[in-house]
Amino acid sequence: MKYFTGVFKFFAISMEIIHISAECYPVAKAGGLGDVVGALPKYQNKSGHVAKVVMPMYRTKFLYENQWQVDHKGTTSLGSWMFDYTIIKEKTNKLGFDLYLVDINGLLDRDRIYGYHDDTERFMAFQIAVLHWINQWDHKPDVLHCHDHHTSMIPFMVKYCYAFNRLGNVPTVLTIHNAQYQGWMGWDKSHYIPAWDTWKGGLLDWKNTINPLAAGIKTAWKVTTVSSSYLEEMKWSANGLESLISQEQFKSMGILNGIDTEVWNPETDRYLREQYDPEIVRRGKDINKKFLCKEFHLDESNPLVVFIGRLVGEKAADILPDAILSSLYSMQGNVNFLVLGNGEPEIENQLVQLKNTFAGNYNAFIGYDETLSHLMYAGADFLLMPSRVEPCGLNQMYAMKYGTVPMVRSTGGLKDTVVDVGDNGWGIRFEQPTAGDVTYSVGRAVQVYQEKEKMESMQQHMMNIDHSWQHSVDQYINLYQDLKH
Ligand code: ADP
Ligand code: GLC
Repeated sequence: MKYFTGVFKFFAISMEIIHISAECYPVAKAGGLGDVVGALPKYQNKSGHVAKVVMPMYRTKFLYENQWQVDHKGTTSLGSWMFDYTIIKEKTNKLGFDLYLVDINGLLDRDRIYGYHDDTERFMAFQIAVLHWINQWDHKPDVLHCHDHHTSMIPFMVKYCYAFNRLGNVPTVLTIHNAQYQGWMGWDKSHYIPAWDTWKGGLLDWKNTINPLAAGIKTAWKVTTVSSSYLEEMKWSANGLESLISQEQFKSMGILNGIDTEVWNPETDRYLREQYDPEIVRRGKDINKKFLCKEFHLDESNPLVVFIGRLVGEKAADILPDAILSSLYSMQGNVNFLVLGNGEPEIENQLVQLKNTFAGNYNAFIGYDETLSHLMYAGADFLLMPSRVEPCGLNQMYAMKYGTVPMVRSTGGLKDTVVDVGDNGWGIRFEQPTAGDVTYSVGRAVQVYQEKEKMESMQQHMMNIDHSWQHSVDQYINLYQDLKH
């Protein structure tokens, strides 16, 4: 479906883009993938395109609190298992785009997004159902935009599964948000894929196993990563896919994520104790900090460093206990830490135990709490991200928008968005994901904190940086349009 969108778009051709994803905020979110898929389509629509999202129907609060209509019912199969699926559509366009959920009874309708023994079957069945549905539309969409390994079999399936031949010339784009997870499945599960051209088996294989992310990289028309630095880094560190990334570089590009300023904006954020703009940043942050410190029994006169994120090796969360301990000793208690996160049980336990040793200077909330995260971006002075791998990172951009100084390891998207204060920037950068580098950086942070005027002008500067989605939307649209020619 194509039409001219009028004088204001200078006769740009409107495109129909179908985003296929495992997450989408506020329907279901485990991390930044959800934030991106909840925002990018909305801003693509605002730019005059027709972007839609298709995702699994999990049992979430959003499902029960909204109105749905049945769009389609179908029957297809995963290997020899025939299953029924239902596509439901949110009735009111609440999120700024058409949202479709795929209901597969007993398989997708669970409380969590990931972490089940049959995740392979769940996401394979989801992808098959999506294509089975789109295949019988009267028209063809302009682009199928897949996100991460949960949907990265789609580029292969539209090209080589006989049942989906009709979609064979629909361009596919795969965005890699995180190459650490690749969805590996043994060759014994190859019968899950609807009848396909077995001569093309090599396209599914990577190191003797079916690797859905690798298959997507090989067969998508274009591959994007969520920052340019990440694309470069993947050539030497991509959890086994390094040579493939180099090989497919000709069709790959980095497009930095934006942030959704309708959700992340201290001037309008309803989760805050006090809303604020750059002019009153000091007062606004003080009120939020006071509230946080009271809740978590911290001394509000100290600089407050926070960590928000998944407690996993990728985020270097394992170094947090040592880094916090060594920073508190070296600063003689003149700094506070607050951690919000969940993940690996061992890291969670260590972070909980630390509470007894450093009450008053340190606290942690182990769990997932959207409201608390907003309050922390607003009330903190510094946000620590020692990540080993960070394809883009949204936290540092949220922090900047809320006037919180990012303290980041120089990697991936962190490198592309944060400039060190020593280079006339507004952040603190370090090289290694180690307790030593973090401790040194905390020392630098405390110094910056003491120079109140400088701190305020850095805060105002970073709050005014434009991280909106518009630039990325334009890049994606150009990329799709290239594929139509
Ligand atoms: P990733 O997707 O790798 O986890 P990002 O920086 O892209 O990292 O995005 C993380 C997103 O998840 C942010 O919106 C962050 O605020 C949120 N988040 C992570 N952990 C938690 C948590 N425990 N509670 C609330 N929000 C969280
Ligand atoms: C992934 C990455 C993160 C990125 C997010 C959204 O989860 O780990 O760096 O910001 O996807 O693209």
